Amino acid sequence: MDYAVKSGQIDKQKTGCLILGFFEKGNLAPSTETIDQLTNQLISSLIKRDKLEGKAGESLLIEHAPGISAERILLIGLGDADNISEQDFNKALKSTIEAISKCRATNALSTLTELKVKDRDVHWITQQTIQLSETITYQPGELKSKPETAAACTSISFSTNEKAEQISIKEGISTGEAIAKGIQLAKKVSDLPGNICTPSYLAEQASNLGKQYKKLNITILEEKEMEELGMGALLSVSRGSRQPAKLITMEYKGGSAKEQPIVLVGKGLTFDAGGISLKPGAGMDEMKYDMCGGASVLGTLAAIAQMGLPINVVGLIPSSENLPDGDASKPGDIVTSMSGQTIEVLNTDAEGRLILCDTLTYAQRFKPKTIIDIATLTGAVIIALGRHPSGLMGNDDALCNELIQTGEKTGDRLWRLPLWDEYQEQLKSNFADIANIGGRDAGTITAGCFLSRFTEGQSWAHIDIAGTAWKSGQNKGATGRPVSLLTQFIIDRANG
Ligand code: BES
Ligand code: MN
Ligand code: ZN
Repeated sequence: MDYAVKSGQIDKQKTGCLILGFFEKGNLAPSTETIDQLTNQLISSLIKRDKLEGKAGESLLIEHAPGISAERILLIGLGDADNISEQDFNKALKSTIEAISKCRATNALSTLTELKVKDRDVHWITQQTIQLSETITYQPGELKSKPETAAACTSISFSTNEKAEQISIKEGISTGEAIAKGIQLAKKVSDLPGNICTPSYLAEQASNLGKQYKKLNITILEEKEMEELGMGALLSVSRGSRQPAKLITMEYKGGSAKEQPIVLVGKGLTFDAGGISLKPGAGMDEMKYDMCGGASVLGTLAAIAQMGLPINVVGLIPSSENLPDGDASKPGDIVTSMSGQTIEVLNTDAEGRLILCDTLTYAQRFKPKTIIDIATLTGAVIIALGRHPSGLMGNDDALCNELIQTGEKTGDRLWRLPLWDEYQEQLKSNFADIANIGGRDAGTITAGCFLSRFTEGQSWAHIDIAGTAWKSGQNKGATGRPVSLLTQFIIDRANG
């Protein structure tokens, strides 16, 4: 979809579909009022005739609109005229995008930019429209032999006649497009099956991004180099796989050379069968999504490189498969991590923390200001929090609060769980420094505790996205979370 700003008299605008807002109690938005007067009360009479209530998300497509240049009008309900909440606006946007992708218009003009949404500005309205439009029109079926039919509408314009608003809308368009592009990249690689999206494939995607953006440098560590670095934990996971593990480094240099980077670490497990501690068969296909953390790092780096943000960010993606094999790690095996700590692998299905811990140690060489890791780490986080927020843990209250705030702002929400010392007890091993599982209780927290052993003295946060990175069931598919959260966090850091 293409996006642009358009100015001019609203009734003279040539467009396939003019999007106009209305409210409860028959109130009309300013442009809607103008059009209503110029069309001999077409709109207000249709609202009466069809008993439209003006509730958020209600819609009416008027296929023919005599007296104005637009071919069609899409009327969109926005709720209370004096208080447009973010939720109501999002509902309205969703039905707007659904309606225009179903109608036959090839382009649309939105007047929703003239609305005052509570605590939000026109930049946000624009950005939100683009992100939602790209999310709703995304089709995951790229491997179907016949292409799915695409919507007729290929462009949306935003209407304004004010200079300052034009600038905000333009900025909203570039931010929205960059974030939408990042989300889309994350979804695309996440939805690909394990036989296509292998560690080598992920590395290739990163390298392609490196070719697109001058400030983005990609290096790939091979297993041999990981061995030299002493990454015994990471390598223990890939032992059972014929696909070689990769450690992808994406260095984005938008800030000054001496500025410490934000380091993002994303779990890139391209298929998690559990290893020798094999998972049950039902729903195992969804373990192709065990690389969604890595995909979110890929998408976030793509978005910030696209925006050219003035900040330094490093993305690290440890990538491997976790499969059973004659050479695979066995329960009870003891491995030595890059940090020197020995780990008793009591369950080979708790592999995410093993590939992450060596990467967290490796991250130290970038002298990070902040480390954030993102991982589909535990099924337990779905039991604890369901599928609405991602789980947040960390050793830095200020950082955690900043992330929570950004989550509220973007709608890509987080909920924090404690990493108290008491939980660390559960990771005791009789034979090694630490065990890789902590029993049934608080599985998400003990996974976080495990990672905390590798980030001591660092400002660090861990985001468990096992419940939020994809949807199961009929609408099975990746969500692209938490790309919008991470990108907004970096935008705010770059501006602050
Ligand atoms: N990738 C899984 C976590 C997962 C499970 C995400 C289900 C989404 C849905 C992870 O590698 C894993 O298997 N974790 C185990 C840990 C356990 C063995 C301590 C789990 O959650 O069962
Ligand atoms: Mn696992
Ligand atoms: Zn896993």
